[in-house]
Order: sequence, then structure tokens, then C-alpha cells
Amino acid sequence: MATYLGIDIGTSGTKAILLSENGTVLATNTQEYSLSTPKPQWAEQSPDQQWWPAAIESIKAVCAAAGISPNTIDAVGLTGQMHGSVFLDASDNVIRPALLWCDARTADECAEITAAAGGQKGLFDLLGQNIVASFTLPKILWLRKHEPENFARLTTVLLPKDYIRFLLTGNKHSEISDASGTGILDVRNRTWSKPLAAALDIDLALFPPLIESPEIAGHITADAAATTGLREGIPVVGGAGDQPAGAVGAGVVGPGQVMLSLGTSAVVWAHAASPAIDPELRIGTFCSAVPGEWGLMGCMLSGGGALRWYRDTFQPAAGYSDITSGAATAPAGCEGLIFLPYLTGERTPYADPDARGVFFGATLRTTQDWFARAVLEGVAYSVNDATALLTTLDVPISEVRAIGGGAKSTIWLQIMADVTNQKHVLPTLDEGPAAGAAILAAVGAGTFANVKAACAALVGTTPAAAPGSDVSTYAKWAPHYQALYPALQASFKSVARTAAGA
Ligand code: XUL
Repeated sequence: MATYLGIDIGTSGTKAILLSENGTVLATNTQEYSLSTPKPQWAEQSPDQQWWPAAIESIKAVCAAAGISPNTIDAVGLTGQMHGSVFLDASDNVIRPALLWCDARTADECAEITAAAGGQKGLFDLLGQNIVASFTLPKILWLRKHEPENFARLTTVLLPKDYIRFLLTGNKHSEISDASGTGILDVRNRTWSKPLAAALDIDLALFPPLIESPEIAGHITADAAATTGLREGIPVVGGAGDQPAGAVGAGVVGPGQVMLSLGTSAVVWAHAASPAIDPELRIGTFCSAVPGEWGLMGCMLSGGGALRWYRDTFQPAAGYSDITSGAATAPAGCEGLIFLPYLTGERTPYADPDARGVFFGATLRTTQDWFARAVLEGVAYSVNDATALLTTLDVPISEVRAIGGGAKSTIWLQIMADVTNQKHVLPTLDEGPAAGAAILAAVGAGTFANVKAACAALVGTTPAAAPGSDVSTYAKWAPHYQALYPALQASFKSVARTAAGA
């Protein structure tokens, strides 16, 4: 039975998984590392000092946990945090720590790119994608402006998992689902945007050639074999960014299938056979890990993170299940107590770093359980904003496959099902992006004809929550939730200005 290795270069650590060709997870291992914030809004990690050692360790540890030798593995797939900038010089040395997806220093560069593209309409035409501070291109412009001596040495820009694949294979590629989050890929046409590069005087030679997710990008080199114990010559596939790889791991690879990832953030990923693009760019369109197809991604920054914040702040001694059971005793809709979950600003549907968390509508009847329920409902309303955009764009939804820590709460999934009026199920493979990367490796190795066939064989579902009697209650309250951000937008901005001056 063949064995595939998936490696996820995450933000809090690198996770390795061993998947056998019949879909059994043999073992997983995570090697944690820290994130450095040398200045406000900065978030950095070291590709060669943190990610690479963690990748090596996780490979060895996952094999030890499964009781197998690394040299019995048949193929490798990679995934990881998207958007991060690995800056290499002409000798392939890392020039400086990578700026991560959660680094927010590039507001000026985002404005510069939007202006160079000709505004939102220009971004729609050239990229089919909005520019947000997470993306890679603004990080390159930041380097050019603020560290010209480093920019002068810059020869190659790689995304996090593409860098680790380079160290394993000696080949440099830009995998296309991840490249969709750089801000310089023409997502409709699956090619780099020459007009945007010209408008910004960016040399496209910085970006290595594009490759699709299940394609073989190279083979384990003798050096990498000596370092990791993997067998020299086994194939390494393109892999995918963590959200598109998570979609593969959940079996979300066909029309009507949607992934809801309830981790710190809440991410909605809807598979799409054609590149539906929101004219207002409120939801992102990315190339999918299924070659020639796409995914629409809504990223709501506070998902499970909002519940964690609620617990830490209001019920620090309580477990999550105590909090959600308490919430279940509050009335659906909380009689108009509404929580806006914008605790760290927002990305979808409002790209607004100044937005803040809000409890609105408390009365003398409001109890602690109602506040807890309002948090669960507020995240569900924000997810509903993303699923409603999918409907506007005629992207079909037949079922939502929920993954991540938040998906372990049946009460929360029921609220999700009722607020969005969608059936929610749980995928049988429960290992997220790393599992998706391993599945892509199995496809690249030829075990399955394509990604859809692999997912059909390896990922089933179990029922979780169907829309129930509270659907009409939430339909009544959702417009009130939706009215609050526009009503508060100017206040968010002026509060941010005041806070910055304070
Ligand atoms: C996706 C995104 C995050 C990062 C880190 O756009 O920003 O999912 O990939 O996990």
C-alpha cells in the first residue's frame, strides 16, 4: 500500500501527515514555532531558520509516530500559509525574514497598486482580485521603498510552501492556487499580469514558472534525501495554498460543494467550474487545486477567534462546551442583541482594517448566555454575508463541509445551518490542508486519475446540521446585522484615527 506525505507550513507550526492510499491517516506531527512582531503591524518568520528545520523535524517525527522509515514514502505534497514573501538573492539565500499574510504594514502599497491598476475596475479587469495587505505584491513594493539595499539583491520571490519544495527538489515553481494570492496573477487566465507588472515596474522574472497543484514539480534531491531520510527521486507535487488544500482535504472539488473552515478565522471556499468574479471584489476568486477550475474564498478574520476572545474575556474558567450549552438556552436571535465579530478588522465582505467588534442591542433582559449566543450568531451572520455573495454570483451551494476547531460544536453548526439556510456536513477526513496536500501527492504519483477521483475515493461525509425551525427567525434578524456595518463605518474610521493619535 503506497504512502503519501503532506506537509503544511502553517503560521503556528509545520504539520506533517502520512496518508495511505486507502485514505487511512497513519500519523500526524506538528512542530511549533513563534512569530516575530518587531514593530506594530509587522508579522515575520524565518523561512530557512524556522520553516525548514520544522519541516525536517516533522517528517522524521511523523514517520517515527507511524513506525515507518521515511524512505518508504512514495510522494510528497506541500501546503502552507498563503501570501507570505520569501525573498531570495542570486545565490538563493534568504535575504530577510518573510512578511506573513497577517502582516499589516502595507496599506500605502495597496493604495499604490490599486491606483496603478486604474482603481477597482482596473483590478477587476487585470487580476479579477482585490488587493489586500495580506497579499505578496504589496510586500515587494514595501521592500523596494523601505529596504532598497535588500531589494537590490532580490532575484526570486517564493511563497512559503514553494520555498520548502525548492529545498526538497532544487526546482523553483509558483503553484497556481497560492500564486492567486500574490496580487499579480491574472486569475481568470491563470497567468501573471504583464500590464500590472509594467504599470508598477515589477520584473516578472522574480516569479518562477507557474505549475498546477497535482503536477509533479520535481523529485527529492540527494541532499534533501540525506537531510530528511526521504528516498531520493520520489516525486514532489505543486500542492496548494492552505485554503485550497483544505478544500481538497474536505473533498470540496465540485460544483455546489463549499468548505467552511472555522479556525481562528472563518473561511468559506466554494468550488467553481468557471471564474465567477464579484464586480465589487468583496469575495476573492482563486485558482483551485483542481487544474483549470476555481474557488471563491471569503475570509472573515474572526471566527473561532471571536469565541476564544469571548471565553478569555468573559468566562475564563469555562470550557467551550459549557459556553455553547449556555448559549443554547438563549433565544435564537437574542431578541436583537447582535455581535459584529470584526475584532481584528475585516476582509470579507468589507475590506476594512479599522472595523471593530461591537455588541449592539443589550437590554435589561440580556444575560451572559445571550452574549455568548450573540458571538456564535455574529460569526454565523458574517459567514452568511459570504455565502450570500456566492448566491449573487450564481455560484451554487448544495452542501457545506465544515472543518476546523469550531466545527466540533454541534450547537454552532446548527446556528450556521439556520443562519445560512444551508445543510452542513462533516468530512470523514479531518486533517485539513495537510491531508489535501497528501491527496495531491497521490494524484501526482498516478494512484488516482485526477483530484476529483481521489476525493471521491478518499473523503466521505457524515451529517452535521440541517436548516431547522430557527431559519425564519434569523431571516428576520440578518438584515439588522447587515445594516450595522454601513451605519458604523465612519465611526470605525474616526475611532481608529483617535486611537492612533492617542
Ligand atoms: C488565506 C489566508 C490564510 C493564510 C494563513 O487568504 O490569508 O488562510 O493562508 O492560514
